[in-house]
Amino acid sequence: MKRTRIIDVLNSSKVGDKLVVKGWVRAFRSNRFVQLNDGSTIKNLQAVVDFEQIDSELLKRITTASSVSLSGTLVESQGAGQAVELQVESLEILGDANPDDVQKTVMQPKKHSLDFLREQAHLRFRTNTFGAVFRIRHGVSFAIHKFFNDRGFFNLHTPILTGSDAEGAGEMFHVTNFDLGNIPKNEAGEVDFEQDFFGKQVNLTVSGQLEAELGALALGQVYTFGPTFRAENSNTSRHLAEFWMVEPEVAFNDLEDNMNLTEDFLKYICRYILDNFKDDLQFLNDRDAEEQKSKPEAERNALSLIERLEFVVNNNFERITYTRAIEILRNSKPYKKKKFKYPVEWGTDLQSEHERFLVEKEFNKPVIITDYPAAFKAFYMRQNDDGKTVAAMDVLFPGIGEIVGGSQREERMDILLEKCKAFNIPEDHIWWYLETRKFGTVPHAGFGLGFERMVMFVTGMSNIRDVIPFPRTPQNAEF
Ligand code: 4AD
Ligand code: MG
Repeated sequence: MKRTRIIDVLNSSKVGDKLVVKGWVRAFRSNRFVQLNDGSTIKNLQAVVDFEQIDSELLKRITTASSVSLSGTLVESQGAGQAVELQVESLEILGDANPDDVQKTVMQPKKHSLDFLREQAHLRFRTNTFGAVFRIRHGVSFAIHKFFNDRGFFNLHTPILTGSDAEGAGEMFHVTNFDLGNIPKNEAGEVDFEQDFFGKQVNLTVSGQLEAELGALALGQVYTFGPTFRAENSNTSRHLAEFWMVEPEVAFNDLEDNMNLTEDFLKYICRYILDNFKDDLQFLNDRDAEEQKSKPEAERNALSLIERLEFVVNNNFERITYTRAIEILRNSKPYKKKKFKYPVEWGTDLQSEHERFLVEKEFNKPVIITDYPAAFKAFYMRQNDDGKTVAAMDVLFPGIGEIVGGSQREERMDILLEKCKAFNIPEDHIWWYLETRKFGTVPHAGFGLGFERMVMFVTGMSNIRDVIPFPRTPQNAEF
């Protein structure tokens, strides 16, 4: 008989149905009640074995984490906690799990620290928390594709190996097939990249934007969704060395259109998860509520996870310029009481303490900050008429900080060339990018969403390492 997934058993099977289910044992109580999970849902199926009918040697092998195939009839459950249960008629052990070994793992059914769970990233999928997180991660990914597809965007696969540094931050992982013990040098004593695989210096991409712009300037509206890599040595709860970014790029859009698109997009994702992942979300909501309790009063979130998602869906984002943000910060209590560690002055970048103040204290909702000083933003951002600021936008989320960075792009060749000079970007490195400004240039805009930061927001997980299956961070690339 064909296997029925547990989610289908619970949603659509009827009492009296003959079924085969397969999965991993989460618990086995009283030599009688099996809690079976197959990953299709956070819910377990209760299966009841009649120990008088089943061989006792077989019964002994039903242990936590072992895998089994169970055949039987769906009946109304006598016990509380579930409407139906499977009355087992025959069972097969698919894979044993030694209880002494299971004791040492995160599969042992009790509360484990997130640190311990990270050490066992290969097994943490088996826990309720990570099952919920990774089902929702899939949901966010699917919602992203659906949002853009429904609006006529084309998904563009931009290269992972590239010669450019789009963001100009120099935080790249280099890619070579040189023998690292014997790297060829030229006459000047520098590494001779001409002899390298690509005949030039190549790195892992930090962003697909530059290539996405090329696509948008022909296909009209495109988006990328791929891995990006940054060798920034920031060991924080919000940074990964390998993370996924979503980068839409739209011809004829200005900054205002760009903000509207971002806001619609982020709201859509929240709505999608609220509507389609109720069980997982409820579990994470309760988990988050527990976690909030253990925090000091001042750091606790007044809203539950589900309320936070509803709040984003139902409220407009605050939109302010960088200049206004500086004004607000300089008039704030923490500024006057010298509580900020970093200076607040027009022309210096906002630090996370400033962003948190604006989002969590001043406005208490998502905030879009626009029109930053040109000096600390990337070369491709469109220069404003004041000559000092650029048409940039950062979206800040409560509890997360920056979740989206974007801008209207500089479409005017003369200004773009000046910017390249000012940023020390050799024209011959990005001649292909510059050429789009030569042939029918148009205003256009786009942004990048940090995918894992979005998953953090919708799952309530407070460390980015807990929303990607196998996190890569400084000194850490196990698994
Ligand atoms: O603000 P960023 O650097 O913008 C870009 O890369 C642009 N090319 C995007 C565009 O306009 N097409 O990065 C975009 C987002 C950030 O807002 C943040 O959410 C996320 O990517 N991000 C990271 N997420 C995890 N770990 C890191 N190390 C990240 N660095 C950026
Ligand atoms: Mg940014």
